[in-house]
Amino acid sequence: MSATYPTTRLRRLRYNKAVRQLVREHQLTCDDLIYPLFIKHGAGANTSINSMPGQYQITLENLPKEINELVALNINAVLLFGLPETKDATGSDAYNDNGIVQQAIKVIKMTAPDLLIISDICCCEYTDHGHCGIMDDHTGCMDVNNDQTLELLQQQALSHAKAGADILAPSGMMDGMVQAMRTTLDANDFAHLPILSYTAKYASHFYGPFREAAGGSPEFGDRRSHQMDFSNGDEALREAELDVQEGADMLMVKPGLAYLDIIQRLKQTFPGVPLCAYQVSGEYSMIKAASANGWVDEMPVVLETMLAFKRAGATMIITYFAKDIAKTLTLN
Ligand code: PBG
Repeated sequence: MSATYPTTRLRRLRYNKAVRQLVREHQLTCDDLIYPLFIKHGAGANTSINSMPGQYQITLENLPKEINELVALNINAVLLFGLPETKDATGSDAYNDNGIVQQAIKVIKMTAPDLLIISDICCCEYTDHGHCGIMDDHTGCMDVNNDQTLELLQQQALSHAKAGADILAPSGMMDGMVQAMRTTLDANDFAHLPILSYTAKYASHFYGPFREAAGGSPEFGDRRSHQMDFSNGDEALREAELDVQEGADMLMVKPGLAYLDIIQRLKQTFPGVPLCAYQVSGEYSMIKAASANGWVDEMPVVLETMLAFKRAGATMIITYFAKDIAKTLTLN
């Protein structure tokens, strides 16, 4: 039996800073961070995103400057979202070898060959209706056709891989998306490229600001026929099991803070599979708004959320705060 008070006094392990640092269970480093970038065509000024203070749609011309800044801050990975010039019903610009993300990948590789490029694989930024794939009404109402959409995701993944992406991250919650992409990548000399699957992506109200940032709002309806119902937890384990069987190399939970239980359960069920937490746009904007009002102290709150992700079991974290965190980590 373990000793009890007064023999055991847990405050001994907290009594000064050096002791606290010695017994700390989790650490945050720049290696944990992935910074999302919104890229648009053209030259000239970046466009600020109203609902996400401090975040911008970056022009291709300004991309090298941004990349150099990230490298100087020791950020090793970016997640790319593109704003195409044209949209159509089938999101064909998604697999245009000269499309916005494909061009951005090449610019980044020329600027910083070692920076890890993760590209988001989904059609919602490229379709004129804003949905994540090809729409039809074979179920009785307009909905994304799963298996036709898989073909688009295969083409998009291949096109990003050819441009130089290092990791492909399917985010559309289509059944079979990992297997479809894996098959195509393997058949085209890209067997070495990992897939980071948005395994448990919930139909969340925290994505609001992102939809302004990436211009990918559905023109009608919502995404509840494919993204997960936030009433469900066990179902995430089934999603993860399938993704692992289909060949996913890494799993993701999205959003982050409201889904720490899911992160912890996936970590416990698949301990060897690297796990990513996505602190999404709404989470960012809430902290920004509260700190702008002086209601919370921004960076301490951000760091607390980061350590919460790590405690729950996240190996890596996608966050719009990555640059600010990196600045703080290097100062300390
Ligand atoms: C879909 C995608 C979305 C986000 C990342 N990838 C939006 C959606 O599913 O509606 C949201 C990210 C965020 O809110 O920060 N391509």
